[in-house]
Amino acid sequence: MNLADLNKVALAMVTPGKGILAADESTGTIKKRFDAIKVESTEDNRRDYREMLFRSQEAMSKYISGVILYDETIWQNAKDGTPLVKLIEQAGSIPGIKVDEGTQALPNCPGELVTVGLDKLAERLKKYYERGARFAKWRAVIDIGSGIPSMTAIHVNAHALARYAALCQAAQIVPIVEPEVLMDGDHDIDRCYEVTGRVLNKTFQELRVQRVALEGMILKPNMVIAGKKSGKQAGVQDVAEKTVRLLKACVPAAVPGIAFLSGGQSDEEATAHLNAINAIGNLPWKITFSYGRALQAAPQKAWSGKSENVPAGQRAFIHRAHMNGLASTGKWAADLEKKAA
Ligand code: 13P
Repeated sequence: MNLADLNKVALAMVTPGKGILAADESTGTIKKRFDAIKVESTEDNRRDYREMLFRSQEAMSKYISGVILYDETIWQNAKDGTPLVKLIEQAGSIPGIKVDEGTQALPNCPGELVTVGLDKLAERLKKYYERGARFAKWRAVIDIGSGIPSMTAIHVNAHALARYAALCQAAQIVPIVEPEVLMDGDHDIDRCYEVTGRVLNKTFQELRVQRVALEGMILKPNMVIAGKKSGKQAGVQDVAEKTVRLLKACVPAAVPGIAFLSGGQSDEEATAHLNAINAIGNLPWKITFSYGRALQAAPQKAWSGKSENVPAGQRAFIHRAHMNGLASTGKWAADLEKKAA
């Protein structure tokens, strides 16, 4: 492992003003997104849609440091035969790859999940590196509910995250370590704070046990936020302050960067929260976005599967990437959204 090079890639992924596009929806997930805009999820449509994003020159070169791809996409070519990976590289962005293989029910833990995909991961990473991937992602899912999460679910998911991270670094690939505490429930922000703290502590404990070099990884956490079904939604400043307080308590300063998931927040909420977090300042890590839905909902709607809508889709993507780029340095303001509209 060349740690200096891993650290260089990790720092490039969190370049101030830029963040990560999570375009790694599995075939099942992208079908759900396409269903919502009444587009059939064929291999060609998935290619056309992602090609539209990766050819958004302004977004890709100015605001997107890296793109997380799904296995199908990393091997796909654009309509003119150029590998999609090349489009990303030509824009000055870094290709990355989702390597987990989704979740399965965790035995003896009703309602809880474990992320799978460690078998043969070393061999797969080698092929992805040859294709151009310089970072990877593995998402663990922790749900909050009555009596859950169990320590068992937190432990096995943290163990798998660390196994994955160690394998990535051995393959000269920067691991994005993503322990996602879902915001699906009716819990309040303080319960999210408590559970996310347990999850982060266990994750870093496992990373240490398995000798993962913290300088060569990126953390992708959820923000500290109330569940979507909670009657008590916290304000933007409250989310920012609690998120920063928890990260300071749990995340070692050796980690170069933190890139949040959006997790079901609205586009503008995700931007406002990231901005407020960065406005607090004096943080030991670079903090940015690694958004899926909060970057893509607008371009998906504008595109709606029609080739004549590609420029509108690209404009919508450029706008969201720009707004989040500003939020990554605490320079976003709500009136910038209205101006563009
Ligand atoms: P969302 O921003 O839509 O939560 O997706 C980010 C991601 O990569 C989840 O694994």
